[in-house]
Amino acid sequence: MRIFVLTGAGVSAESGLGTFRDKSGTGLWARFDPMKLATPEAFARDPAAVHEFYNFRRRNLLDARPNAAHLALARLQRELPAHGGAMTLVTQNIDDLHERGGARDVVHMHGELLKARCVTCRAIAAQRSDLTAESHCASCRRAGTLRPHVVWFGETPLFMEDICAALSDATLFVSIGTSGSVYPAAGFVSHARARGVRSCEINLMPSDNASVFDERRYGAASDVVPAWVSDVLGA
Ligand code: APR
Repeated sequence: MRIFVLTGAGVSAESGLGTFRDKSGTGLWARFDPMKLATPEAFARDPAAVHEFYNFRRRNLLDARPNAAHLALARLQRELPAHGGAMTLVTQNIDDLHERGGARDVVHMHGELLKARCVTCRAIAAQRSDLTAESHCASCRRAGTLRPHVVWFGETPLFMEDICAALSDATLFVSIGTSGSVYPAAGFVSHARARGVRSCEINLMPSDNASVFDERRYGAASDVVPAWVSDVLGA
């Protein structure tokens, strides 16, 4: 069994990190305008505002802890080989909670909040402190050239070649904690279905493309994901 797991903001919601869109209207994009904070144009227009937005989220992340869903996915990745299987973990999330929960080789298709990228020399480095216009690139030593290493609206997601290869090799596609509203991730389930691969949605409530999935399990990720992992591992 080769499982392709896609996660979204819902898997980190119970760790205290906000989701972007939810029915209660308290999602991040209900409180902040993504066109002013999460596009290359926004960064060119007002880098200080963009830095402040991601600095706020980075500080929240450093105070957050992985929850039972992160731990369960790491357990599945660790124990599947003994069952003759393997798991690819692709996340839309820019947090490091999968890694802190024990997962390995996590594919961050929307980048990583705890990394910064130099717009001049393209170097990518760990970034745990606040980014400002005075921040220096450790590689080219220039100041004011660092941006969050995250994929903004209008930019190309990362690792798509590897992701498509893993999706084409999967025998089960599982989507956890995502509204299915942002492509290309939202299209992965249709890609799996077109290949006759079984699919399962695990979410708090039906996503935009819930009807495409073969199986659906609803509830809080920290409850539903450990139960699903136990079912897959037979214990
Ligand atoms: N357990 C499981 N699912 C949950 C929980 C929870 N405790 N809390 C919320 N959810 C679900 C919501 O019902 C929703 O369907 O998680 C989903 C989160 O959806 P979004 O907020 O849209 O987040 P996501 O799908 O990851 O967004 C995709 O959009 O803005 C971009 O780059 C951003 O990566 C993000 C992308």
